[in-house]
Amino acid sequence: KQDSDQLIIDAGQKQFGATTCSSCGMIYSADNPEDNFQHTQFHQRFLDSIKYVGWKKERVVAEFWDGKILLVLPDDPKYVTKKAEDVRHVVDNELGFQQVTLSRPTQAKTYLFINSDRLVVGCVIAEPIRQAYRVLEQPDQNKDMTKDDFMERHRAWCCSTVPEQALCGISRIWVFSLARRQGVASRMLDTVRSTFMYGCYLTKEELAFSDPTPDGKLFATKYCDT
Ligand code: ACO
Ligand code: ZN
Repeated sequence: KQDSDQLIIDAGQKQFGATTCSSCGMIYSADNPEDNFQHTQFHQRFLDSIKYVGWKKERVVAEFWDGKILLVLPDDPKYVTKKAEDVRHVVDNELGFQQVTLSRPTQAKTYLFINSDRLVVGCVIAEPIRQAYRVLEQPDQNKDMTKDDFMERHRAWCCSTVPEQALCGISRIWVFSLARRQGVASRMLDTVRSTFMYGCYLTKEELAFSDPTPDGKLFATKYCDT
């Protein structure tokens, strides 16, 4: 009896023997040559997208011991906006967004966090907005769900129907998987608040997050009440 149970479990693992790459996030089967090849290609493209080679002119808006934040505006030279776009594709791919256009591309500001290894490890896209709807707190009924279940079912958060004043919409926020929980996202939002509108420092209430993921919601909740 025990043996046959074991067999079933082994077969299951073979079939679902998936590995998640901790850098590029791709899920693939390491013992499938075709999958391995696909992963190698995707991985290389990912690394190329987040590699920062240095620009003649860069707009540094914050500096830290472990990196700096650059601001990219829509009218910047092509080689600059191209990089911002490449990073946005990486982010959209990871967030599962497909071809989501920015609501006001000509006014979008892209912030890139460059680390000491010259990698773009953080990206925030901020857009001017007028109003937002607050995400309503939900009873904690989802404790036992896996993250994927949670993502599936709760992508549409319950929102209040009462619009509130907001000035800056965070349409994307992303940190490279190996650079998370080091305050990169928090430092990027602090920088957005001080540089998004000339001459004023936005409060946390004046920021609005669009369509937050579970990670995004945990982060935003923490960031906004501290
Ligand atoms: N789980 C629980 N708490 C979290 C998490 C998490 N996954 N991420 C952040 N926090 C909280 C913690 O309290 C953390 O402080 P601590 O590390 O001292 O405990 C605090 O927020 C600050 O976190 P940071 O280090 O500043 O956040 P980080 O740089 O890791 O970036 C982010 C957070 C952007 C959500 C990152 O996890 C990420 O890129 N995730 C994948 C992409 C994603 O889901 N982005 C949000 C999409 S929503 C949108 O774009 C509008
Ligand atoms: Zn990889």
